[in-house]
Amino acid sequence: MNRTLLTVIGTRPQYVKYASLHKEVRKDINEIFVDTGQHYDQNMSEVFYSELGIPIPDYNLSAGDKDPFVQFSQMMIGINEIIKESKPDALFCLGDTNSTLAAALTAAKNQVPVIHLEAGERNFDNYLVKVLPCTIPEESNRVATDHLSSVLLCASKRALGNLENESISGKIEYTGDIMYDLFLGKKEQGLIDKNVLNNYDLTEKNYYFCTIHRAINTDSRERMSSILEAFSEFDKQILFPIHPRTRKRLQDFDLWGLFEKLPHLKLVEPVSYLESLSLGFYSRKIITDSGGLFRESYYYSVPSLYIDDTTAWIDIVKSGWGVMTGSNVETILEALKKKTPEKHPDLFGDGTAVEKTVESIKQFLS
Ligand code: UD1
Repeated sequence: MNRTLLTVIGTRPQYVKYASLHKEVRKDINEIFVDTGQHYDQNMSEVFYSELGIPIPDYNLSAGDKDPFVQFSQMMIGINEIIKESKPDALFCLGDTNSTLAAALTAAKNQVPVIHLEAGERNFDNYLVKVLPCTIPEESNRVATDHLSSVLLCASKRALGNLENESISGKIEYTGDIMYDLFLGKKEQGLIDKNVLNNYDLTEKNYYFCTIHRAINTDSRERMSSILEAFSEFDKQILFPIHPRTRKRLQDFDLWGLFEKLPHLKLVEPVSYLESLSLGFYSRKIITDSGGLFRESYYYSVPSLYIDDTTAWIDIVKSGWGVMTGSNVETILEALKKKTPEKHPDLFGDGTAVEKTVESIKQFLS
């Protein structure tokens, strides 16, 4: 098939998702691959390329500016030039980051059809519940990208319903979750490795694995203090790979010293994908505000605490495997004691999301 697909990614979760796709996509399609450079630290980007065997991008836009408006404009100018030069038949974007929306909007302005993977997820923070605008940056990225897309590929059944309610004009399909496929593949290859625990002096099921990086938490001194207070009461070690945003904010708030002082809290640099899989898989519970890690905790059948007030992944909460705690100390500590549910319903597909995604892309292009 002599059709050209322009793929745009640029953040840590997008490297992970793209890792499961590129080989299959490239079998039949001429792919041009752009990294926006939204994430630029070595351990937020390069390490994923080497570990997951992601091909070298055809273009890197180095648009990792701290100001999201500068970030958006740099990405859009860069993607526009690439579209003008390469004249793709469609643009492929994933997830809900600033890179996703910058890509979709630039394609739409050039009348290039957009294929959006992981479409239809919603937190419903303000949108539809009250009035626009959304308070969560990812939510406005999702809503706008979905309404600009010609093909909307959904990771969950709930997302299908969300899109139907919004009278979306594009073609909506259910694929299941490609991150789940990737996890199953790595597990089958024996790459979930208990030995990783030795690097951090941890033992199986005897520690909590934690990540916090969402603006709702990191941009509030009050919330971060409350999380710290809850952590001080935890009964086991907490391994906390720390996102650059979180570190910076804790330093700005003069909380870094207090976090560092907690004897059972281990603050480490962000870890690679395989390390994260292993550390999450063998943990007792996962404490996070990352939608990706929250989903992964469910794949592992490891109970989790979701440190946020809303989530796109409400089915995990309904299943009882994840408890949405906000940042309240008592709620967090209560959730930590909760028993593991018996049932574990299938929420993220049957491990064929990659196949279905590639098939949908091919069909559209042909
Ligand atoms: C972004 C995504 C979020 C995703 C997360 C995964 C948006 C709106 N948010 O959030 O959906 O879950 O990635 O990590 O796109 N920074 C560094 N080094 C880096 C990357 C970022 O220092 O490698 C700094 C930036 O300069 C900025 C802050 O961290 O000050 C936030 O980075 P940004 O890319 O805006 O968003 P994330 O919080 O990473």
